[in-house]
Amino acid sequence: MPKFNEDSRNSWVRVYVMAGNAETAKASRPRQASRDDVIPLGNPIRTPGGEVISEIVVAKGTPVTCPVAYINQSEDLWGPDAKEFKPVRWIEDESGKDGIGAGVKEIKGYHHLLTFSEGPRFCIGRNIAVGNFKATLSVLIRNFSFELPNGVDSKIARHKGLLARPKLEGENGPKVPLVVKRLE
Ligand code: HEM
Repeated sequence: MPKFNEDSRNSWVRVYVMAGNAETAKASRPRQASRDDVIPLGNPIRTPGGEVISEIVVAKGTPVTCPVAYINQSEDLWGPDAKEFKPVRWIEDESGKDGIGAGVKEIKGYHHLLTFSEGPRFCIGRNIAVGNFKATLSVLIRNFSFELPNGVDSKIARHKGLLARPKLEGENGPKVPLVVKRLE
C-alpha cells in the first residue's frame, strides 16, 4: 500500500488510481458440488424454519454459488461504511494504518475481494483487467475533469440488472451523465 506522505501530482494520481480501482472492484456463477460435502459457516445462521445451524450439508451435484457482491460489501467484515464508495479506506496514514478491518484481511484474493474469485480457478486475466483500468483511468483523469450534474450532492444508485451498473438516483436506466472538460 502506498503511504500518504507524497505530494507531487503524479504520486497523488497514482495513489488515487490504485485506491479507486481497488474500491471499484468491491459485484457469481453457480458451480456444482463434485462430491457430498459439509460447508462450515463462519457464524451460525437461523434457517427460515427457525433452526440455528453452523454448517451446511451439500449433496453431490447441488448447484453452489458464492454471493460475491454481499461478501465484498458485508458490514460484518468491512465495517459500517462497507457499502460506501470510499477509496481512502485503502490508503495508509503516516503510522502505516489503513481503513481495512482486520477480519477482512483473512480473505485472500485481489485486495481481500472476491471479484476475481480465488483458489485454483481464479481469474487468470485479473492483472490484464486491472492494468487496463489503471492505464485508462490515469490517462482520463490527467487530461479531463468530470463533474456530476448536481456536483458532489448528486446521489448515485445501483441499476438493478445482471451486471452492477450505476445510475443517478431517481432516473430510469443505467445512466450517469457527466460534464467533461479538457484540463489545460
Ligand atoms: C473486470 C474484469 C474481470 C472480472 C471481474 C473477472 C472475473 C472473473 C471471475 C470471478 C472468474 C472465476 C469464475 C468462476 O469461478 O466460475 C474469472 C475466470 C476467468 N477469467 Fe476473468 N474477469 C475479468 C477479466 C478477465 C480478462 C480481461 C480475461 C482475459 C484476458 C479473463 C479471463 C478469465 C479466464 C480465462 C477465466 C477462467 C479461469 C479458470 O477457470 O481457470 N478475465 N474471471
